[in-house]
Amino acid sequence: MVTLVGVRGNFVDALKELVELEFDTVEAYEVAIDRLKDPEYKITLGQFRDDHKRHISELTSLLIKHDVQPPLGHSMGKHWVTIGKVVIANLNGGDKAILLAIKVNKIDTNTTYARMKERPDAWNDARDIIECGLQDEQRHQKWLEAH
Ligand SMILES: [Fe+2]
Repeated sequence: MVTLVGVRGNFVDALKELVELEFDTVEAYEVAIDRLKDPEYKITLGQFRDDHKRHISELTSLLIKHDVQPPLGHSMGKHWVTIGKVVIANLNGGDKAILLAIKVNKIDTNTTYARMKERPDAWNDARDIIECGLQDEQRHQKWLEAH
């Protein structure tokens, strides 16, 4: 699915979906890292995955601070990334195909962070976290485009 995360009626729901999207993203990275042959690609994607784990912990702390129960994993039934871990696990075509799949997923995360950033109902203390997430994603995307 091309993601609809970030468009929900209220900021809290949109933020919770963003956390679920990040969990999906981490899972997709894990499978990709496992399957990649090039050791440098593995290292770089490992760093990117750690960025996403950091996003999850920052967003989770933010939700808790606002007395909202944070998602503890990816959502049941819904999958927010376009190319999920199962598809990546079964890709043929080597490292290039895997990087391409991760790059397609970047569209989802980038779009979501950009939407969240524009929301007029965003919490003030969420803005820096969202901005950081967007910058990380743009950095990941640049690297993927270059490779
Ligand atoms: Fe990323």
